[in-house]
Amino acid sequence: MGDANMDRREFVRWGAAGMVAGRFVVQPARRDERIRGANDRITIALIGAGRQGLGDLGNAMRRPDVDVAAVCDVFQPNLAKGAAMAPKAEQYGDFRRVLDRKDIDAVIIATPDHWHAAQTILACEAGKDVYVEKPISVAIGEGRKMVEAARKHSRIVQAGTQQRSGKHFQQVAELVKGGRIGKVTQVRSWNFGNESPDGIGIASDSAAPPGLDWDMWLGPAPQRPFNAHRFGVDPVRWSSFRWFWDYAGGMMTDWGVHWLDIVQLVMGVDAPNSISAMGGKFALQDDRETPDTLLASFQYPGFICTYENRTANAGAISGKSNGILFHGTDGTLFVDRQGFEIIPEKSRTGTTTVDRTQWLQVENSNQHHQDHMIDFLDCIKSRKAPVSEIEIGHRSTTTALLGNIAYRTGRRIEWDAKDEKIVGDRDASRYLEREYRRPWKV
Ligand SMILES: NC(=O)c1ccc[n+]([C@@H]2O[C@H](COP(=O)([O-])OP(=O)(O)OC[C@H]3O[C@@H](n4cnc5c(N)ncnc54)[C@H](O)[C@@H]3O)[C@@H](O)[C@H]2O)c1
Repeated sequence: MGDANMDRREFVRWGAAGMVAGRFVVQPARRDERIRGANDRITIALIGAGRQGLGDLGNAMRRPDVDVAAVCDVFQPNLAKGAAMAPKAEQYGDFRRVLDRKDIDAVIIATPDHWHAAQTILACEAGKDVYVEKPISVAIGEGRKMVEAARKHSRIVQAGTQQRSGKHFQQVAELVKGGRIGKVTQVRSWNFGNESPDGIGIASDSAAPPGLDWDMWLGPAPQRPFNAHRFGVDPVRWSSFRWFWDYAGGMMTDWGVHWLDIVQLVMGVDAPNSISAMGGKFALQDDRETPDTLLASFQYPGFICTYENRTANAGAISGKSNGILFHGTDGTLFVDRQGFEIIPEKSRTGTTTVDRTQWLQVENSNQHHQDHMIDFLDCIKSRKAPVSEIEIGHRSTTTALLGNIAYRTGRRIEWDAKDEKIVGDRDASRYLEREYRRPWKV
């Protein structure tokens, strides 16, 4: 089993031991960190009160032992939405003032992707536990530094790849690992939709809207004039910062990371060894930078995996617009957020070795999101490793980022997962790090 699937008991046994480049590295646990009782309260803050942040906050607030002491956003209308959910919380525009507060145990970081690394590392340094949204970083090097900060400061850091907390995803992992569909040699994952021809449209640079600190939104990303699509916040759709390389990685890291995270969980691996990708912006007439059509392939030991994204035709696979298919010698297993089913192979003798399962429908397809936050809050108290411990989140994000590196360079990438290096390709290796705009650094 790959180290990203480290057993949770294993983590506890090692205390604050970290897994760096495939090895256990023992670091002393913080002596002042105590295991808290069920009646102890947890004081949290939200950094980034956009669509996902408000959802995360709502999930945390379901717990009676949680107090929300602060909400922080650089955009006043979103800050007001967070404050409306948590009226007793102090309001902040600068997250560093939140981290200064000694009474805050943990922060939820739901800012755009380009902020995750710096904010997580600063939060760890300030002694906070962290729930950081996926993808955990926009460059592989900064993701590794997040893991190191969590280890150095003995922090609980949960990545927002919440499907790992989905009971039916865990059941699928048990079935496949138990041999239910035989030997799996191919995995396909996909998201399809149709936004053609206009996509998000085109926005000219303009003055920033009132109540927005644009410089603090850009943070470590390159300085540039305000642009409504780069900022992205929109009343009717998910923010479009996702489609600009300075802040994110398109569908590969937005949705692809969720599916690849489950592929790695189910297959018991934590890194591909070779990656290639093709695609382009073929149909959408908008100003996004990331592709509207993408096919990325990942070679793992013993099987291949693809992630496909199409945004200009919604034609489904197996009647599903998104999901994962595991193709085994005895059967095919389909899974998405709604449920899963197994379709047996017809054997050459005419009998089947696997029974077809009924479609197993989950009761609430958002339950895994709530459970993921509850797992984080439980781990704050127990000091155990959460389900998507930051090393696991880093490995899943890394795989998605490698898909983008293969796409952007147009080359097959050979990945040395132990040393987190691209083999023999200096040009592609440039993408492992990114430049930070001062004063920000990691
Ligand atoms: N786990 C999931 O399934 C899931 C789903 C959606 C989004 N996400 C992730 O959540 C994150 C946020 O996405 P979103 O769609 O909610 O975006 P959003 O644009 O709606 O929200 C981001 C918020 O962060 C604020 N912000 C930016 N810089 C800040 C700073 N320095 N300090 C404080 N606030 C700052 C913005 O003003 C905005 O209100 C992304 O990383 C995204 O990938 C995860």
